[in-house]
Order: sequence, then C-alpha cells, then structure tokens
Amino acid sequence: MLDRYGRSITYLRVSVTELCNLRCRYCMPADGIKKKDHENMLSEEELIRALRVAASCGIRKLRITGGEPLVKKNIISICQQAAAVEGIEELCITTNGLLLPQLAAPLRQAGVSRINMSLDTLDPDKYRYISRVGSLEQALAGLEAALAVGFEKIKINTVLIGGFNDEEIPDLAELTRRYPIDLRFIELMPMYDSGDFGPEAFIPCASVLDRLPEAEQAEQDGGVAKLYRLPGSQGNIGLISPVSAHFCAECNRLRLTADGKLKPCLHAPTEYSIKGLDEEGMRRQFEAAILGKPQWHGELSATSRSQAGRNMNQIGG
Ligand code: GTP
Ligand code: 5AD
Ligand code: SF4
Repeated sequence: MLDRYGRSITYLRVSVTELCNLRCRYCMPADGIKKKDHENMLSEEELIRALRVAASCGIRKLRITGGEPLVKKNIISICQQAAAVEGIEELCITTNGLLLPQLAAPLRQAGVSRINMSLDTLDPDKYRYISRVGSLEQALAGLEAALAVGFEKIKINTVLIGGFNDEEIPDLAELTRRYPIDLRFIELMPMYDSGDFGPEAFIPCASVLDRLPEAEQAEQDGGVAKLYRLPGSQGNIGLISPVSAHFCAECNRLRLTADGKLKPCLHAPTEYSIKGLDEEGMRRQFEAAILGKPQWHGELSATSRSQAGRNMNQIGG
C-alpha cells in the first residue's frame, strides 16, 4: 500500500517484547524495564492475526525485534507462524546474539531467513560497560553459532559512539575479512537524555571513512546503509546515517510494538492501537497508520531528541 507521499510500505518491524537481557546505555535507562501487565501486551494469536492483516495490506518483509526477541518464551512458535503467513517473502530477526548458541538452529528450522546482530565493541570491558551487564564472549559465541548453522548474509550493527568505539573502527571493520558478514555503523540516535553521552558522542558516519582509507564503494542493495568494502573482505561495511542524512524519503517501514501499537515513524509519537481488535478492525488501523505516516521525523541532534515517546527497547529500532 502507498502512503500519502507515494512511499510503498512493504516492511513491518515487529517488536515481540520490551524485555531484554542487556541494558544498553543508548537504548534504555539502567532501571529501564518495567514489566507491563500481560493483558496489555499482544497475545500470540493477536500477533499472528496482525501479521496476516499486514500481508494483506502489502507487507512482504518482517523483522522480529524487541527488546531482545530471543528472551520471549514462544519465539520459535511466533517465527514458525510468521514465516508461514501468505505473502511474507522474508522473515528476519534483530538480536543481541547472547541466546543464539541455543536458538540459532531452531530459528533456522522455524523459517527465519536472516539475522542481524548488535555488537558495539570487541573489548570485553567496553562491552560490559555499554551493555551494563553483558559478556562479549557470549555475544561472539552467538555469532559463531549463527554462522555454524548456516545463516548467510548476517549483518552486525555497531552503534557509533565518539569517545567510546571510534578508535575501534578499523578492528571492527576487520570482522568483514574474518567472517562472511556485513558490518554496519549506525549513528547514535538521541532517544532520551541518559546523561551518558555528551555532544562528542554524536559523530557522523562519514568519519568512519576517514579511519578506513582502504574502503571502496560497493554495489548498493537499496537498504538504508550506504555500502563500502575493504579489499579482500567477505562482506560489506555499511554506514547508516539517520541523524546526518535521514532516509525518510525512501522509508518503506511500519512498526508494531509489543503492546499492540502501530507506529508509522520511529521518531514520531503517533500510534494506532490494534490490541483486542478483530481482522477488520486491525485492517482499518493498518490503513490509518500507513496513511498517517509523516513525511519525515523532524530534526535529530544531541540537542533535538527523538519525539518517539518511548525508549528504543519499547520500539525495536
Ligand atoms: P536489513 O533488513 O538487513 O536491511 O535490516 P535493517 O537495517 O532494516 O534492520 P536493523 O534491525 O538491523 O536496523 C538497523 C538500524 O537502522 C537500527 O539502529 C535501526 O534503529 C535503524 N533504523 C531502521 N529503520 C529505521 C528508520 O526507519 N528510521 C531510522 N531513523 N532508523 C532506522
Ligand atoms: N541509536 C542508534 N542505534 C540504536 N540501536 C538501539 N538504540 C539505538 C540508538 N539510540 C540499535 C541497536 C540494534 C538496532 C535494532 O538498533 O544496536 O542493533
Ligand atoms: Fe537490549 Fe538491543 Fe536495547 Fe541493547 S539495544 S538493551 S540488546 S534491546
């Protein structure tokens, strides 16, 4: 379905839980997760109903997100049913990877086509710092597990943070030589004022290229990342610049939160509830959300924060 600006909305990002086994500083406050009442969250049945309606409105690609989607008890069942929805061509998942050692194989069997994994540093102490609780070793074991069970085109997402991981850009980029994966640097989006990041933390993706003199332009794939490549690598380096060069004009996505709200834009507060609705009711809300999609999300910077009205773990990126 087309929105009012002629954009074809074919991609639904589905957050299945706000909960997470990490507490990344750019995503949520330290005490960030207040478990909501079960009855306010979408049930599995409602979620699958929503996916069928989404497909009938023209959605072709699904990405399961969170929070951390792999902490959801029924994640395998959700993926199996999502993959089987008529009209869905691609079922992807974005995860921090910690639970992939146990879940990579069942996810693949369930019909997940692609995995994106978050990894901001290769230094164990920095990993613990940025995620407040996590273990780098466990995350890397997750990546190895996903490769071992045969997932292809895995993408690593690295949030670029000045003064935290900018010195590591060459080492992180090196992963594309070691593994058949893409690595994408994402500009830090100002979701809430955590006090953790001063203005120096917000550095543009263009600065990545200064640190990678060998990088050459690669063939583009139509996604949100601008693609480059190191000689001898097995995958691309991607630059995702939501702050310095927003991609709203080409945005093809809609988001569904775990509490059943359709969000036409990551950084806009408007939401359309589908909780408790039958197929017809949900279809009306999907259509309203697509037609209500704003042209762009307004200024984002260290001083102009996101108007999302939620932290990232409650949206799913
Ligand atoms: P592919 O299917 O592999 O292209 O994945 P993806 O880039 O769509 O998904 P992923 O979950 O890996 O997201 C990568 C980053 O891009 C995350 O930080 C998202 O928050 C950010 N991102 C994704 N969609 C949007 C968007 O519509 N607007 C903005 N500003 N950022 C987005
Ligand atoms: N800015 C940029 N990226 C973010 N992510 C989470 N919060 C932010 C933020 N404030 C990323 C995660 C994950 C993806 C879905 O979103 O690292 O890879
Ligand atoms: Fe969890 Fe992802 Fe947020 Fe980190 S960025 S706290 S892994 S939801």
